[in-house]
Amino acid sequence: MFVDKKVALITGGASGLGFRYAIELLQNGLRGVTLADTDDAKGNEAVLKISEDFGADKVLFVKTDVAVKEQLDNAFKRTVEKFGNLDIVINNAGVMVEAIWEKMIGINVNGTIYGCILAMEEYFPKYKSGKEAVIVNISSVAGLQGISVLPFYVATKHAVIGLSRSLGTPDQYESTKTRVVTICPGATNTPLLHDLDKKALNDRYLDLTMKHPTFDLFPMQQIDIVPKCMLKVVEEGPNGSIWVVEDDEIYEVELRNRQDLKKK
Ligand SMILES: NC(=O)c1ccc[n+]([C@@H]2O[C@H](COP(=O)([O-])OP(=O)(O)OC[C@H]3O[C@@H](n4cnc5c(N)ncnc54)[C@H](O)[C@@H]3O)[C@@H](O)[C@H]2O)c1
Repeated sequence: MFVDKKVALITGGASGLGFRYAIELLQNGLRGVTLADTDDAKGNEAVLKISEDFGADKVLFVKTDVAVKEQLDNAFKRTVEKFGNLDIVINNAGVMVEAIWEKMIGINVNGTIYGCILAMEEYFPKYKSGKEAVIVNISSVAGLQGISVLPFYVATKHAVIGLSRSLGTPDQYESTKTRVVTICPGATNTPLLHDLDKKALNDRYLDLTMKHPTFDLFPMQQIDIVPKCMLKVVEEGPNGSIWVVEDDEIYEVELRNRQDLKKK
């Protein structure tokens, strides 16, 4: 298996989906994982849990705000100091708060770009343990369609798709030996989706949100299926591939080139 004896760094890995990705990969032979997250308390809790279940030598928590490149760089540096290698980077940290959209862009977009640059330009070339490394960027089904009540979050997740489509091209692979794959989860039961009434831009958006047929359009899935999708794409997701995991189903999507999108 690709994941066997490899080292991963997961942003936003202290809780939610990021933590579950760590567990899934550890269960499948991962040698070590860094959880790079802003939340100290959850980070320490996560370290305790992983240490109990897999051993203290398997995990490192580094307090990190991905919107600050130096902090993310520090997490990469600490990872190779502890584990000696770095093979898998999961750019997962993200928020969905329309009211602080500039900050959200800093986390969801800049944070993901920093993660790609640090991995592809600096750390993978020196520290990958095999022939190939992997970046998994986390977009969303919101990266594949417009959603009236979440325009700014949708914009950040479309940005992640564009980034991954560009970095996941054959010429990029040829010169970096890095597979860049993307996962687009559907609505999944984590704190990201809680307290939506406090996250709207203003009262008009709050009103729209309350009237929006969210649950019909975005069926809520339990977390368990999403880490399975992570393992699948780390193992066998082709470079540039984009995967949806929604309503307990995992499938690859094909985005067409603009010429094929021409309206007939
Ligand atoms: N839950 C969903 O329905 C859903 C659907 C599609 C995509 N996603 C995406 O999946 C990713 C994880 O979401 P989740 O549902 O696990 O959310 P979550 O809120 O449960 O967890 C997010 C984690 O990221 C951390 N984090 C937040 N800001 C950070 C920052 N600036 N730097 C580092 N860490 C930070 C938090 O402390 C937390 O541990 C996000 O990118 C999100 O957009 C989630």
